Amino acid sequence: MQVIEKFLKENEPRFVRELSEYLRFPSVSAQPKHRSDLTACAGWIEKHCRQLGLQTRLWSTPGNPILVAKTPRVAGARKPHFLVYGHYDVQPAEPFELWKSPPFEARIEGRSLFARGATDNKGQHFAHLKAVEAYRACGVELPCDLTFLIEGEEEVGSNHLAAFVKKHRAELRCDGVVISDNSLPSLKHPALTYALRGIVALEIRLDGPARDLHSGLFGGAVDNPAMALCQLLGKLRDARGRVAIPGFYYDVRPLSTYERRQMARLPYDERKFKKLLGVPELFGEHGFTANERRSARPTCEINGLTSGYQGDGSKTIVPSWASAKLTFRIVPNQKPEKIRELIEKQLRKLCPPTVRLTIEAGHGGDPYFVSPDGAQAQAALRALKSAFGHAPVLLREGGSIPVVNDLKKILGVDALMLGLALPDDNPHSPNEKISLDAFAKGMRMSAHLWQELANITRK
Ligand code: BES
Ligand code: MN
Repeated sequence: MQVIEKFLKENEPRFVRELSEYLRFPSVSAQPKHRSDLTACAGWIEKHCRQLGLQTRLWSTPGNPILVAKTPRVAGARKPHFLVYGHYDVQPAEPFELWKSPPFEARIEGRSLFARGATDNKGQHFAHLKAVEAYRACGVELPCDLTFLIEGEEEVGSNHLAAFVKKHRAELRCDGVVISDNSLPSLKHPALTYALRGIVALEIRLDGPARDLHSGLFGGAVDNPAMALCQLLGKLRDARGRVAIPGFYYDVRPLSTYERRQMARLPYDERKFKKLLGVPELFGEHGFTANERRSARPTCEINGLTSGYQGDGSKTIVPSWASAKLTFRIVPNQKPEKIRELIEKQLRKLCPPTVRLTIEAGHGGDPYFVSPDGAQAQAALRALKSAFGHAPVLLREGGSIPVVNDLKKILGVDALMLGLALPDDNPHSPNEKISLDAFAKGMRMSAHLWQELANITRK
């Protein structure tokens, strides 16, 4: 392991240059105009994997290409096989003007590398690829067979991955899945994540008058769709910060005393947290701590709100329509299908007769939960300890990686989620970055992980 660690350390500047190249592609899956950038980005990472000696194949899908890259199998050797999942697509970079430097021109400042996708997720799966490179360059045989599965639609719901995995289930059959697409509380608190929230996304639209109307001539005689939308949305949350949809909490599995105790041990300073996020006060469901609320309790969020005149100055109109993009984060054991029905039912019930409501269903994903006391989890904790030099913590996280459930259903294996994103990395926000220390430790963690996993799986 020492030669590998030495190689990783000595070559870090080159790795960072390569990662910066990978970050140049505006692989924004939500925006159709970037379709060709996604293909180009997939081509780049395929070529890179091939140069590392992996056997690659880029599969086209009705959406963006999926990359499968395998470490060469040694004939006769029966090694444990792990799937490493990642995504090369990124969130939109807007609003551009809030970036200190262009989002697709990686910039180093101190020990941070800034670019859209730096932490979510290019930098994180790149760390795993570099660990493989280190094994090969140092002439050390990899103790596990690895298959990298890197997709380009994670940020829009991984629509084509489940079908792909089903079709290729024989070659993807494995002993476990490893994912670094999540966070750790600090470099002194490396973490194994054992639960994620699920998600239900939808868009709603209220149509009123056939066209924008003069608000002086008609305001007061017809409903205002923007106002109606605000009132409707306002009813989705009560004064205690709970989602006000009948039946919404029915399947929520309560937090155990043990979990609440673990969460209370995580580093947390309310004043710093508020400052980091730029809010005057925190908000959320009564009776739960901020960490509990953002990781293990369900929520309703408005992600986007559109109506009326958005240009300079004023324009006195009653807008013809208003729309909102909504997502609900859900927790074990809520089911996205059932929650979606409850939401739609309530929206229809709340909608006044003065406007017409349309609901367009978006993506959805199950929450995830795996007991962290299995042998693989213990092996992962040891790898974290070796690489970070600190005792690891167990985490529940609020983000969603819907594919984790698909992989569990189709391949029957659980995921080891070993995040490398720090709390101030700004995923989905302007000035996203990855900490180069987290990246370096991530590469080491990956190198240790295959050893630890081989030790337990071989028995
Ligand atoms: N990497 C995130 C998910 C994540 C972040 C999990 C931090 C745990 C901690 C992922 O790329 C992501 O953003 N997923 C989307 C999924 C959605 C579009 C279906 C999310 O959570 O909003
Ligand atoms: Mn993301």
